Amino acid sequence: MGCHSEPNREPGYRYHHGRRVETIALEIAQFENLLKCVNVKALRAASLLHDLGKCLPNANGQDHALKGANETRRRLQNQIDQETLNIITEAIAQHNKRRSDLYPSRHEETLIQDADLIDHFGLMEVWLHFYQIAKQNGTIKDAVALPYQEHLQSWHDYAQGSLNYPTSQSMLHARMARSRDFFTLFAQEQRGRIE
Ligand SMILES: [Fe+2]
Ligand SMILES: [Fe+2]
Repeated sequence: MGCHSEPNREPGYRYHHGRRVETIALEIAQFENLLKCVNVKALRAASLLHDLGKCLPNANGQDHALKGANETRRRLQNQIDQETLNIITEAIAQHNKRRSDLYPSRHEETLIQDADLIDHFGLMEVWLHFYQIAKQNGTIKDAVALPYQEHLQSWHDYAQGSLNYPTSQSMLHARMARSRDFFTLFAQEQRGRIE
């Protein structure tokens, strides 16, 4: 899957992110005992394709979730059954909406919302943080500066208030602990203090 929005991040970044979202969504579904009541085929396909809209030419500032849903419908129409296609396109369209935005909704939608958020935390968060710093030609000091710490904290708060399942909360907490530990140690080493 080619992508225009993050040209220097990683070749195929959206594909790899999609595969990770698929794995995380399935793991949440398994722990929440939802595998019997979700359309697994649709969940996997929508996870993989959820950010397709980010890889399409930007027209009229349209929401990438809707753009991806429309493109998926166009490409898969007549290839799979209508019910599965509807679940896939709706899950793609809703993937960047949050808990407060929609209810009731299908598990395929809320699982992907959570998995998509979770993939931005933990050691992935460390990678994304340094990617953003480098993209803005930031220094090592910028990487540990107070505005970034505050940004990180508000991002953590936002994620914690947005998840749909207890399993997602546990996964997020484990990841946040890892990234906090990393940034604490990194800030110490940056100052030459290794305690
Ligand atoms: Fe997205
Ligand atoms: Fe995403």
